[in-house]
Amino acid sequence: MNVLFVCLGNICRSPAAEAVFRHKIGKAGLAERITVDSAGTGDWHAGKAPDRRMCQAAARRGYDLSALRARQVEPVDFSRFDLILAMDQANLRDLEAQCPVDASAEVDLFLRRYRGERHEVSDPYYGGEEGFEDVLNLIEIASDALLAELRDRL
Ligand code: 4NP
Repeated sequence: MNVLFVCLGNICRSPAAEAVFRHKIGKAGLAERITVDSAGTGDWHAGKAPDRRMCQAAARRGYDLSALRARQVEPVDFSRFDLILAMDQANLRDLEAQCPVDASAEVDLFLRRYRGERHEVSDPYYGGEEGFEDVLNLIEIASDALLAELRDRL
């Protein structure tokens, strides 16, 4: 099972989701069976490390984002990954617009996994520190729900 998390820049939300979910599948003993990656719909930050504010907020919860580097979504992702999970509706629309006709991946909103009231992980880039905590809170809850779902599908 191969999972790709996608946001706009691949420097805040999706690298955080990658690190949190990787941490959770490691603890669950599923690291051999589930691969995790992240990418952005945009290319402005390609090759860059995650945003420092995101790294610091994640590190306070024990997640290490330091080795991650941004990349843009590419056509092959739609066949290489089983599940492509967008952080917000704009990301989902952008993914659907570039999805090749022979794509095998399921493309969806990440927060549909936990069926809460919120449907989007909002972009924290231009806001304050609380935005990064909100991102992590949502990602942690949705990652637990995703892990439960994938256990049934493995
Ligand atoms: P992300 O956040 O999509 O969660 O990585 C953003 C990062 C950069 C920009 C926007 C959102 N930007 O406009 O540069």
